[in-house]
Amino acid sequence: MWKRLADQWALVTGASAGLGAEFSRQLASRGMHLVLVARRGDLMTELAHELHTKHGTRCEIILADLSDPVEPRRILDEISAKGISIELLVNNAGFGVVGEVDSADIDRLLQLIRLNISALTELTYRILPGMLERGHGAILNVSSLSAFQPVAYMGVYAASKAFVLHLSEALHCELYDRGITVTAVCPGVTRTSFFDIAGAPGWLQKHSSLAVEPVVKLALNALARRQQCVIPGWKNFFLTLLVRITSRRRVVKESTRFFRPRRKTGQ
Ligand SMILES: NC(=O)c1ccc[n+]([C@@H]2O[C@H](COP(=O)([O-])OP(=O)(O)OC[C@H]3O[C@@H](n4cnc5c(N)ncnc54)[C@H](OP(=O)(O)O)[C@@H]3O)[C@@H](O)[C@H]2O)c1
Repeated sequence: MWKRLADQWALVTGASAGLGAEFSRQLASRGMHLVLVARRGDLMTELAHELHTKHGTRCEIILADLSDPVEPRRILDEISAKGISIELLVNNAGFGVVGEVDSADIDRLLQLIRLNISALTELTYRILPGMLERGHGAILNVSSLSAFQPVAYMGVYAASKAFVLHLSEALHCELYDRGITVTAVCPGVTRTSFFDIAGAPGWLQKHSSLAVEPVVKLALNALARRQQCVIPGWKNFFLTLLVRITSRRRVVKESTRFFRPRRKTGQ
């Protein structure tokens, strides 16, 4: 697969940091050129410079807030105006929100849905027709371990990732025989700024986690093997089975241990 994809273009959303920056590094090392999309241009410029120096990668940087509904279409128009055709789409951009209903910022939750669900869906459905016409192409969607069960105090995020997993698996099945691979990667806790941004600072340091490099490597290997879904880490794989071997009620109840906000005495 990587031989065929060398010198072809990948579009990576959320490329400025964390898993997205690492996807970009590992795809560049496999010879792909990259369209990098996120809001922080300075980080993407640095990354593009690094990848060009190390691998001769051509990078196009597109600044976009993907929670803005007009942006997916604008990005794709910009890409086609440059005469670039996307062979691999990595739908990685996303964020989580941790907190109680009482203090929920509804605008932030809707922004999450527009980024994690709507933008991913629109990019996927707008890019697929070209891939189908050519008879080849691949999509890697970043879901999460939280896609396998509801997570208390992180309900909207977990539900958004269940959407990503279900959509990806349905498309995998629909498109496999038409030359297109759709793979979902479901990482567990991974060392990025995700938890700080989600509103759970310090959480990462208190839990076992994986580094970005092995998570991305496993995801790309699974894509190359045309897998439907991959869960990095055997402990994480075991956690996805809990919902099958015990009751859903119990599994959700257990999840309260993770993100229940500490209450001050007297509250
Ligand atoms: N880390 C984990 O434990 C973990 C576990 C399971 C799944 N995931 C998933 O992995 C993916 C990557 O997250 P990460 O862990 O790498 O977190 P991260 O380090 O916070 O990176 C998130 C990326 O998404 C981009 N992004 C956020 N909001 C955006 C917006 N409105 N428009 C465009 N880009 C936006 C950010 O770029 P800008 O801020 O520059 O826009 C950044 O590049 C997410 O989908 C996340 O849900 C993470």
